[in-house]
Amino acid sequence: MTHLELREKFKEFFKSKNHFIEKSSSLIPIDDPSLLFTTAGMLQFKPYYAGIKKAPYTRAASIQKCFRLSDLENIGKTARHHTFFEMFGNFCFMGDYFKKEAIEFAWEFSTQVIKLPIERIYVSIYEKDDDAFKIWNEHIGIPKEKIVRLGKKDNFWGPAGDSGACGPCSELYIDMGEEKGCGKPDCFVGCDCERYLEFWNLVFNEFFQDVEGNLSPLKNVGIDTGMGLERLCYIIQGVESNYQTDVMKPIVDAIIKKLNVKYEDKNKTKINLIADHLRALVFVLAEGCVPSNEGRGYVLRRLLRRALKTANDLGHKGAFLNELTGAVINVYKDIYDYLPKEEENIKRILKEEENKFISTISAGMNKLYSVIEENKESKVISGKDAFMLFDTYGLPLDITEEEAADHGFTVDKAGFEEAMEEQKKRSRGTGEDKKSKFGYVENYETKYVGEEKDNLVNGVKAKIIAVYKENIVIVTDVSPFYGEMGGQVGDNGHLETSSKETIKVIDTQKKENTIIHILDNNNHAFNAGEEVTLFVNADRRNAIRKNHTATHILQRVLELTLGSHVNQAGSFVCEDYLRFDFTHPDSIPEETLINVENQVNEVVFKSMPAVIKYMPKEEAIAAGAKALFGEKYPDTVRILDIGNGFSVELCGGSHLTNTSEVGYFHIVSEGSVASGVRRIEAITGLKAAKEATVLFNKVKNLSSILNANKIDELTVKAENLQNEVKKLQKEIKQLKTSGASANSFIDKFEDLNGIRFYNLEFNEDIKEVRLYADTIKERVKDSIAIMISKTDTSNSILVQITGNALKEKKLSANNIIKDIIAVSGGRGGGKDTFAQGSIENTEKAKEEINKLKSKWL
Ligand code: SER
Repeated sequence: MTHLELREKFKEFFKSKNHFIEKSSSLIPIDDPSLLFTTAGMLQFKPYYAGIKKAPYTRAASIQKCFRLSDLENIGKTARHHTFFEMFGNFCFMGDYFKKEAIEFAWEFSTQVIKLPIERIYVSIYEKDDDAFKIWNEHIGIPKEKIVRLGKKDNFWGPAGDSGACGPCSELYIDMGEEKGCGKPDCFVGCDCERYLEFWNLVFNEFFQDVEGNLSPLKNVGIDTGMGLERLCYIIQGVESNYQTDVMKPIVDAIIKKLNVKYEDKNKTKINLIADHLRALVFVLAEGCVPSNEGRGYVLRRLLRRALKTANDLGHKGAFLNELTGAVINVYKDIYDYLPKEEENIKRILKEEENKFISTISAGMNKLYSVIEENKESKVISGKDAFMLFDTYGLPLDITEEEAADHGFTVDKAGFEEAMEEQKKRSRGTGEDKKSKFGYVENYETKYVGEEKDNLVNGVKAKIIAVYKENIVIVTDVSPFYGEMGGQVGDNGHLETSSKETIKVIDTQKKENTIIHILDNNNHAFNAGEEVTLFVNADRRNAIRKNHTATHILQRVLELTLGSHVNQAGSFVCEDYLRFDFTHPDSIPEETLINVENQVNEVVFKSMPAVIKYMPKEEAIAAGAKALFGEKYPDTVRILDIGNGFSVELCGGSHLTNTSEVGYFHIVSEGSVASGVRRIEAITGLKAAKEATVLFNKVKNLSSILNANKIDELTVKAENLQNEVKKLQKEIKQLKTSGASANSFIDKFEDLNGIRFYNLEFNEDIKEVRLYADTIKERVKDSIAIMISKTDTSNSILVQITGNALKEKKLSANNIIKDIIAVSGGRGGGKDTFAQGSIENTEKAKEEINKLKSKWL
């Protein structure tokens, strides 16, 4: 049976049992910041079990794309583990059915639909679950010797992420034959070896586990089952492992062909690992993630580097993964129709990342070998070294660990994490520090009323509810001030007391629902309950709004221009400019950047409406709003819709009501901030218009200086000028080494028995002095030249020996310079013929030179 047929049979079966066939959700969990990836089929249904959300059906089944890192060490080595895999599952909410039906369904599908041989099936149950035992034994008829009771570690599942539904489980196993076993006398269900293969996990959700690990009974019990698609194919297709099933074999075969290796025992683990990682890379990249040094991006990087290192072990040197994406996509193109559309992008990202690593791998591995050599005694690679290998040489920790293990070494992982944490702390922006500064402010509910125009114009009456730091920090019941959040800076402005005293508000922060005003206040003592009127600096806010709405337009234009992999990686909006960080693997050519700027301005000039709407989260996501990157969102979300669907983004910030209010948009800079992340800084409104005028005038000035009539001519003229400068520089160099300037020093020597001794000092840069030394070398056969360069910024020295001074007197420039520096201070060295360095005290150097000279007479 092919995997395609198996998929159909599974769906048909559960449809006939009244299950709604749900689509696989994304590999990136939308609403669960505690998980990087979707690790199980139940993940998209988590809120239904917990009763946080009402399920639209009571039964569902799915074939879910999953990704797990928990089995990383086993990948390739065993027949059955993967990072990316697909999971068949049936699910039940609101207590519609429970253990008995779940077991019946699993049994019927296994024995009647796909006809697995009953005599080879075994089951495990949670050790205390007598109900499950009874159902298997009395109702289904499995003999008690084939039912194994296991502890919490094996037969209690969940929660996925930091909290959620969980409960005891029961697993179905199949005996793959004695020859697959470990041969130990107690080898049975639950053994780690390859004989008893677990293929279906039935979880009986009874509890909710909170983030602290406390269990409480669920209001409604639920069912969550999971069965690995690849494992089932392995069992049914009678092949030697998951890697030889019709899902994975085409990928394995493509690798064998490309690397020109045989699929024989000594290579299998490695080839399997590459196949697993290649498939996972294609799927995760297709979801818009890009390699980086954090989070999902780092997982991608690790997989790619591990695959390349493994190919390297198989004797393959260059990039190759990017050439094999077709092998993966071909298997899945009819199931996940978005894959072919993403292929070009995936290839490009892989290629760039592969090349990046290949250029560093040999340096990294060499450094690792020297670290191994240096620590032969302890046989431990310190956390600091492991981090240095990662940070400076790009070697992922698992590569270091694997190589270390091959040499009988261990790696201090805790030390590595510590070093990583240290670095993160160092590189964190000031934003967090600022927030943590207000830890002393208690939580209040301040009503934010700062989006209504009238409130900005007329001010808002508010009551003081808390005062801190000697009347400098205040909290009020209502406020039109926007507290710094979501990348938008906090407002400033002023307040008026009832006695008409004016006090400046210099910044606004937000902590939960508390708006915190920071004042420039020397005199006024506030009382709780006191009434004040709050006035936001409306001009500044307007400038901020322009930049914020422009950021949304820019994001959409970037998606349209560069591709759907563009995701926000950071954003900052203030009155002066906007900064937008986004995922994109390559540098952006200048023409593309100009095109982006033009497109943003087109949207500005089209005067599109910009409307704030509130809608259910699902609806917002369906309309195109991106809710990735592990943020937690409420059920009803606030969105900004620009141009009736042109750009729909979740946002809590302040915006314009029409794009024309941006006025004018201008990109000031573009560059890379981290691997795979680019940053654009831009300005808007009057500031952008003024900047354009300044630039225009500069061009005009330049044109008149260069005598250019048109802009195109200006470029040509500037280029010509540059070429001319280069030509002149060359000529100057020639002149300096030619006779004209040599005449000034070539005769200034002392004769040391036929050897010319030059003891010269120049107020010129050492680069020039080297040219003079070249002249001596060219013109004088036997010479010793010691030349000092003394400029305002540095003192340098060179020593050059030619001809007989070298051969007969056996002088060495390197020794001479070392002798001089030992007295004068400085650093330097070189060869017998030539040495160069810096000196601290030129007078002392000269004395030493004279002393040395007397030895050469
Ligand atoms: N959630 C369980 C698992 O992942 C069953 O689907 O094994």
